Amino acid sequence: MSTREKLIDLIDRRSKARLGGGEARIEKQHSQGKMTARERIELLLDEGSFEELDMFVTHRCINFKMEQYKVPGDGVVTGHGTIDGRVVYVYAQDFTVFGGSLSETMAQKICKIMDMAMKVGAPVIGINDSGGARIQEGVTSLAGYAEIFERNILASGVIPQISAIFGPCAGGAVYSPALTDFVMMTEDTSYMFVTGPKVVKTVTGEEISVENLGGADVHASKSGVAHFKVEDEQEGLLLIRKLISYLPQNNLEEPPLMETSDSIDRVDDELNDIVPDNPNLPYNIKDVIFTIADEGEFLEVHRNYAKNIVTGFCRLGGMSIGVVANQPNYLAGVLDCDASRKAARFVQMCDAFNIPILTFVDVPGFLPGSGQEYAGIIIHGAKLMFAYGEATVPKVTVTLRKSYGGAHDVMSCKQLRGDFNYAWPSAEIAVMGAKGAIEVLESKSIRNIKDDKERDEFVAKKSEEYEKAFANPYQAASFGYIDDVIEPRNTRFRVIRAFQTLQTKKLTNPPKKHSNIPL
Ligand code: HXC
Repeated sequence: MSTREKLIDLIDRRSKARLGGGEARIEKQHSQGKMTARERIELLLDEGSFEELDMFVTHRCINFKMEQYKVPGDGVVTGHGTIDGRVVYVYAQDFTVFGGSLSETMAQKICKIMDMAMKVGAPVIGINDSGGARIQEGVTSLAGYAEIFERNILASGVIPQISAIFGPCAGGAVYSPALTDFVMMTEDTSYMFVTGPKVVKTVTGEEISVENLGGADVHASKSGVAHFKVEDEQEGLLLIRKLISYLPQNNLEEPPLMETSDSIDRVDDELNDIVPDNPNLPYNIKDVIFTIADEGEFLEVHRNYAKNIVTGFCRLGGMSIGVVANQPNYLAGVLDCDASRKAARFVQMCDAFNIPILTFVDVPGFLPGSGQEYAGIIIHGAKLMFAYGEATVPKVTVTLRKSYGGAHDVMSCKQLRGDFNYAWPSAEIAVMGAKGAIEVLESKSIRNIKDDKERDEFVAKKSEEYEKAFANPYQAASFGYIDDVIEPRNTRFRVIRAFQTLQTKKLTNPPKKHSNIPL
């Protein structure tokens, strides 16, 4: 072959590889509202930045006459590129090649880019669309999964890992996404489950659809497996670009500082009236977050799961900040098992990636009852406390209204390493609310009053006394547990200044192999 012919041969081989499983299968993929692996990567990365690796890798299986069916690149497209000029490593399973099922060599391709990402300290984004283990390969495929899992685990807390589920993800294959920092699912076209509907029916007799067993809705709202649910792949890929903008490249770097035209000293008069006079009335905590955030932007994580606590990212003075906030608009902002677990995971992720944490507190306590106790509220609440207590990133807490009992301690209080703890004048920091307190403290007197009206008046009088003494921030402030009582309208600049002074914070935990967080 002449040099020129070799060049033409290369071009020919490349275009063959780019066709994956062929035109017909690409057509089928499109007809299902799905993009191909390469189309997805193109949309995800900065234009023209993708460098593909291992385009000529093929499987080595000889079972079931597989040696006759080889596609260059096999069932996954891998490589690196940039998002807003920052390097990321990417793999996208190609459903047009053996249904994106995982072969031994495919696993090697994925492991190669994960190893590279660890070497250079860059995020890994995995796009999942696969029929699971390559059946023809048997245990070598299972071994391949285990090698990927190992890398997911060792990379955890070192480089950000993001998983997009844009098609099937079933069986043990679900555990790679589950080990990563963020999982995203598309409505209608994606599903995740350990065992599919047919096996479920055989084993338990339950009849259930794919969608109801493991669709995006289920995982975004019921199980909490998915952090994000998106309408389509385009929305998902743009969301990943946004998410990356809040994260550092790795655990040794800070998240990027963005320029903002939003004045740091902006005051927001509407915040002075946001908390209703009646402490039993709700308000939307997201209004507070949107108001104080740079340009009113907030990227919510786990929006549909455990809505009684809100988690997500915003910027304050250009700094990337993780926000955790009780939501009085949903179950009065009570802490239950799901909310504790959701917030604990978010706090841990922020701490791993040097993202300061802003906590807004308005919490009536932990949800009482046998349901919660049996579900392990003790252990789940402990998770949140552990995550906050172990976190060494800058932490600023603002108590807006209720901060009662154990929930007060859990929600980043001063004694659990809160750096700056502010309160609004509407804050009520106490062991419990007035009604509950009076019922305990005055139980004998209440029992002895036989007349209903007289009893009500007695309880009202005692509650008023209690509220005067405890339903305010000043007892906590008198002990220095609250650093200052601030005007709500000044929250933005008080919080930004606090985070700015904390930029040089140094705090380390005692040396250990690792913690034993109550899982
Ligand atoms: C080999 C596979 C495959 C697999 C799909 N294909 N899954 N090839 N191994 N696991 C191939 C099909 O033969 C077909 O090839 C092509 O991919 C597209 O598949 P279709 O069935 O035509 O597509 P669709 O109708 O959309 O159905 C998709 C599907 C179905 C629901 C994913 O293919 C399916 O049920 N696959 C098997 C799923 C499964 O049980 N996997 C093992 C799970 S256990 P052609 O040549 O016709 O295009 C597991 C263990 C992991 O993964 C353990 C890790 C620890």
